[in-house]
Amino acid sequence: MTRVLITGGAGFIGSHYVHHALTTHDDWQVTVLDKLTYAGNPANLEDLEGHPRYRFVRGDIASRGDVDAALEGGIDCLFNFAAETHVDRSIGDAEGFIRTDVYGTYTLLEAARAREVKAFVQISTDEVYGSVAQGRSRETDALMPRNPYSASKAAADRLAYSYFATYGLPVFISRASNNYGPRQYPEKVIPLFVTNALEDQPLPLYGDGQNVRDWLYVTDHCEALDVVLLKGTPGEVYNIGGGNERRNIEITELILDTLRKPRALLRYVQDRLGHDRRYALDCSKIRALGWTPRTPFEQGIDRTISWYASNRSWWQPIKTGEYLEYYRKHYRL
Ligand code: NAD
Ligand code: DAU
Repeated sequence: MTRVLITGGAGFIGSHYVHHALTTHDDWQVTVLDKLTYAGNPANLEDLEGHPRYRFVRGDIASRGDVDAALEGGIDCLFNFAAETHVDRSIGDAEGFIRTDVYGTYTLLEAARAREVKAFVQISTDEVYGSVAQGRSRETDALMPRNPYSASKAAADRLAYSYFATYGLPVFISRASNNYGPRQYPEKVIPLFVTNALEDQPLPLYGDGQNVRDWLYVTDHCEALDVVLLKGTPGEVYNIGGGNERRNIEITELILDTLRKPRALLRYVQDRLGHDRRYALDCSKIRALGWTPRTPFEQGIDRTISWYASNRSWWQPIKTGEYLEYYRKHYRL
């Protein structure tokens, strides 16, 4: 059995990777370590209760005691998905981002070094390159993060690399573009806009709506991470992009049209501070290892919209309490 620790497994991408791991790798024993912050949702993993190769530990990656408890019984391989992930919240208050994304990654690296793990996969992000006016970021490009979230992730990315260069820890680093799909917390633009449209609420589009993101369907991301682990080289970075660059206004109109909602629901609002204009990745390195995204954007977005339309019981309870407080304050409603 290969003993695998997946941190942040109750979140959006982490929960997809946990399901993917248990169905794709018969010989993996999976432990999830998750603090269950506002973004972590036990419902994302509830179908796995009682699974013989799965265990859930509630804990904080920034606590060495919690990390050691999760690693009891040994560890071969670690995927670090756990992070504070929302750019807007990092602009409001960066402290939790530095604690989890930087100090938490340090804590995991130390624990992994003490146990001589065979692979440490650090889930980084395309945001570490900063805004890219033209062309596409390559793995060797300079990092220029421009908001507290991406700066914290860049610190973690390079800290992980330093444990490879200094101690020889077998670290692999992935930098993915914007993910979308079922079970994404409705503070991120696609689930926010889909759920607002379903409730006939305005869709708050920042600035001029011309910012560009490259959309990657979440299960394609999971497949790419297997390629990084099984075919990648320790110490290397791998870009993972969907190849679907879209302007935010296009996404907004597509959501409204698909749900047959009026364009009048579109509401231009004040721009995000330091809003990165465009992210774009050159993915030739991982493509050379045999990975290619399988989900055309039109298919992925249809599937995602349908999932939110038929899983109101997943998102309606989220859009209450602390969420509403954040929403009203952030959007000045
Ligand atoms: P998410 O916000 O949906 O989930 C994060 C998970 O981490 C939650 O379950 C949360 O409870 C857990 N967590 C937070 N702090 C923790 C702590 N201190 N200890 C233990 N668990 C903690 O995030 P996501 O969108 O699924 O992103 C997962 C990873 O992928 C992150 O590292 C993120 O930076 C990276 N990433 C995300 C995207 C994207 O588009 N969503 C793209 C590229 C990279
Ligand atoms: O690029 C990868 C990153 O993608 C990940 O590392 C982050 O964890 C993830 O949150 C995501 O960051 P973004 O800032 O790109 O995602 P978000 O969904 O917050 O915003 C996407 C775009 O939509 C961005 O240009 C801002 C815009 N937007 C967002 C919100 C929440 C709006 O116009 N209105 C909104 O209300």
